[in-house]
Amino acid sequence: MNILKVGILASGNGTNLQTIIDKSEKKELPVRVVVVISDKPDAYALQRASKHSIPTFVVKPRDFADKVSYEQKMIDILKSHDVELVVLAGFMKILSPHFIGAFRNRIINIHPSLIPAFCGKDFYGMKVHQAVIDSGVKITGATVHFVDENVDAGPIIIQKAIEVKDNDTAETVALKVHQIEHQILPEAIRLFAEGKLKIVGRKVFIEE
Ligand code: GAR
Repeated sequence: MNILKVGILASGNGTNLQTIIDKSEKKELPVRVVVVISDKPDAYALQRASKHSIPTFVVKPRDFADKVSYEQKMIDILKSHDVELVVLAGFMKILSPHFIGAFRNRIINIHPSLIPAFCGKDFYGMKVHQAVIDSGVKITGATVHFVDENVDAGPIIIQKAIEVKDNDTAETVALKVHQIEHQILPEAIRLFAEGKLKIVGRKVFIEE
């Protein structure tokens, strides 16, 4: 089977990255993580990648004159590693049309809520889970979607819900959401790698 070359952008701990690496090494996913890029030099995701001999790069926006040149650096790294799919796995920067156009329909993102709830430029990481707790909703979850020019609004590939219980906190919700992220992100990557995702307008059809 053809092995898809995946490049991952991550800003933090990298548990989603770890799941993808582990499943690809166990041959449960027909992909190979060929490069990991972070905007944060101390992101633990970089260490996780290094432990598996995956090349890593730190690309910091403030080292560049503008957003286009910052993103062009990442595009150059990804293209030089022949990346076929870009996965945003806990990447906290918003990408501009310049980057998105370079990998049209080849970028997917994991977001820690049920889009279109608790998403957009002010909702990321723990902020999402705190907002979930503060709002009193009874369910939340995670979403994997294609990335387009609208923040957290590209065509949805997979969503999965969890219940929010009375005694939940932002931390316990984050733990539960991470568990389902570790299921749906690899599943979405598998579907992409096997050519089973078809984007039609706002919708993604899954051909099993
Ligand atoms: C994940 O929950 C992911 O959904 C979220 O950051 C976390 C990263 O966890 N992403 C966003 O909030 C993007 N808007 P990880 O570093 O352990 O994979």
